[in-house]
Amino acid sequence: MSALTTSSDGFLLHGEPFRIISGAMHYFRIHPDQWTDRLRKARLMGLNTVETYVPWNLHQPEPGTLVLDGFLDLPRFLRLARSEGLHVLLRPGPYICAEWDGGGLPSWLTTDPDIRLRSSDPRFTDALDRYLDLLLPPIVPQLAANGGPVIAVQVENEYGAYGTDTAYLEHLAQSLRSRGIDELLFTCDQANPEHLAAGSLPGVLATGTFGSRIASSLEQLRAHQPEGPLMCAEFWIGWFDHWGEPHHVRDADDAAADLDRLLSAGASVNIYMFHGGTNFAFTNGANHDHAYEPIVTSYDYDAALTESGDPGPKYHAFREVIARHAPVPDEPVPAPSRKLPLTSVELDRRAALLPHATALAKPVRVDADPVTAEELGLRSGYVLYRTTVPDHGDGLLHFSGGVGDRAQVFVDGAPVGVLERERHEEALPVRVPRAGASLDVLVENMGGVNYGPRIGAPKGLLGPVTFKGTALRGWDCHPLTFDNLGSVPFAPASEAPEDAGPAFHHGTFEVRAPADTFLSLPGWTKGQAWVNGFHLGRYWNRGPQRTLYVPAPVLRRGTNELVLLELQATTGPRALLTDTPDLGPVKP
Ligand code: GLA
Repeated sequence: MSALTTSSDGFLLHGEPFRIISGAMHYFRIHPDQWTDRLRKARLMGLNTVETYVPWNLHQPEPGTLVLDGFLDLPRFLRLARSEGLHVLLRPGPYICAEWDGGGLPSWLTTDPDIRLRSSDPRFTDALDRYLDLLLPPIVPQLAANGGPVIAVQVENEYGAYGTDTAYLEHLAQSLRSRGIDELLFTCDQANPEHLAAGSLPGVLATGTFGSRIASSLEQLRAHQPEGPLMCAEFWIGWFDHWGEPHHVRDADDAAADLDRLLSAGASVNIYMFHGGTNFAFTNGANHDHAYEPIVTSYDYDAALTESGDPGPKYHAFREVIARHAPVPDEPVPAPSRKLPLTSVELDRRAALLPHATALAKPVRVDADPVTAEELGLRSGYVLYRTTVPDHGDGLLHFSGGVGDRAQVFVDGAPVGVLERERHEEALPVRVPRAGASLDVLVENMGGVNYGPRIGAPKGLLGPVTFKGTALRGWDCHPLTFDNLGSVPFAPASEAPEDAGPAFHHGTFEVRAPADTFLSLPGWTKGQAWVNGFHLGRYWNRGPQRTLYVPAPVLRRGTNELVLLELQATTGPRALLTDTPDLGPVKP
């Protein structure tokens, strides 16, 4: 029996009228040592509930597995929410969108071009059911009916924007039910008649996703569902950023006025995002409408809590609005956390990537055309493709099918150009100085598409490569995940030859008392950053994002290590740790 039920115009929790005032925070985007802090701040803003997605791709990196520790210890996150007195809305997807790599669908699944994703294709639903067999048993004890915090579970995600396969939604609801999910189920869709019709299921509560036009969105929802609670399952109070675009912000008073409209209308709400967090490592997604547009590393989202967990202007404004409609704890609003003092880091050790690629990743030899990253079994990261060019002279290097997603090309170790999926680039004029020259193509996966029909679009080299019209055959393909930097052969920069190609840079810095900080990389171009082996994610001077969040728990008292993989060039060997984030210029 579910703890949360519906009446003709609202919710009942254990039989008592209840309004959900929720905020989204994705445990997998927040360092687990900070979960308690963020949950407490959610309660102090006046939220009675938090909402999270569940990323299938991380929980099940291979079929038959389940990862449930560290950042992925969902049962622990749920227990902590409960200790804080918060309810939880759980959104296990399987598709989660969320600007997350592949929308959360694992690449071992999306790689099969024949599978019809998010449909009742048995190849999809069987994989999904085997995942739920493993995921749900540790979750069931956390349901409200069993004394846990989970009061409702979402079926799919904005399915009406994608498909019309109601049998699939029915299958999913049944899969949840038969594995012990007795709590209230709901769907969520953009608040228009077409999406609501295609994404809803009879007997399952329909909710809407919208950030403005509150009255008309609620009317659409009411027209679709004449009875039951009105709920905005994603009240968008900020937005995400793509590389190369301005940073998105939304005025706090404007968002607060819309929150007030929602609550005054008697609706329930899930603020998206209460706390956005970070796309650490290789976890960001991408859009692909007319062009490929990867998401930046920060998922600050201009949310109520900043990326580093500090109450921003919306936190205060929302707390005031909520207080007009519901009790808000009579406790002081948390102050911003202490930040590390300004620290300069000298990166005085270096190792070039190309000469050491084979030591970092055992190459896979293919005799014919290059294979994709997925065919190499790679979920994220880079592939270095290496071959020799039999011909020489000036000519066009052509990559049929393009590259996924950004390729740096080197002839005999010298950089000759870059191709980007974003710009639909497929060809590069090059001069090959001699027959038998080596050709290296370093291809970066910039993030899997998370919305629309292109989910699962492959990465790496996507087809045959020709020079002057002749196919280059026979490649060594190095899958580079960089999950163990211990084998990088760093040498003092003074002794390492200056190299124009991609290189690792290493430096140390002293910390007296660990605290949050922001890595600023003036003069650096594009690459990846790690602190004490923790992969902060991607940096790029294209912006808008200019600093990377370094959570305090990854630092230690004493000597700390910074490693950068710089793909292009730097003007100097220095990085900075600052006390202020810089997410870039906003749209004028
Ligand atoms: C939709 C999705 C979310 C997220 C937002 C935009 O509503 O359901 O997962 O992608 O858009 O941030």
